[in-house]
Amino acid sequence: MDKIAVATGAAKGIGRAIALRLARDGVDVAVVDMDLEGARQTASEIEAMGHSALPIRTDATKSSDVNEMVQTTLKEFGRIDILVNNAGGREGKERSALSSIERRGLESCRCAESQRGLQLLRNLGV
Ligand SMILES: NC(=O)c1ccc[n+]([C@@H]2O[C@H](COP(=O)([O-])OP(=O)(O)OC[C@H]3O[C@@H](n4cnc5c(N)ncnc54)[C@H](O)[C@@H]3O)[C@@H](O)[C@H]2O)c1
Repeated sequence: MDKIAVATGAAKGIGRAIALRLARDGVDVAVVDMDLEGARQTASEIEAMGHSALPIRTDATKSSDVNEMVQTTLKEFGRIDILVNNAGGREGKERSALSSIERRGLESCRCAESQRGLQLLRNLGV
């Protein structure tokens, strides 16, 4: 599969598992998390499978961070096909800029196709 994914909250837990699963299917992954060391670790595991990974430190609650992350990913990989809007946490106290997509009642953006996901990001002004 010749696809590019952005996976947020991919340093550990569900996001990490999704990132590794996508990589097993041949997807190159931007591994996005507040925890850069954790993101690097996930990226190393993906690279060990022979796929490309780009660890990016991003706080998904900050639009400027999200915007920069999208630009960095586009610069490195050229496009985004899949958005895994996973960042959050078990405590569930933080609401990310990306999860405002869900608050606006739009269809789930988790693993959405890039055109729709990017359009949603544009609609959010990020
Ligand atoms: N684990 C569950 O039972 C469960 C149940 C329902 C929903 N969820 C949701 O699934 C998602 C992942 O859950 P998990 O259990 O894997 O969580 P986790 O706490 O194991 O991992 C969350 C990851 O997201 C990162 N993160 C948190 N806030 C961030 C932010 N603002 N910007 C960037 N990265 C951020 C953390 O650094 C961490 O690496 C969360 O959104 C959570 O609310 C989980």
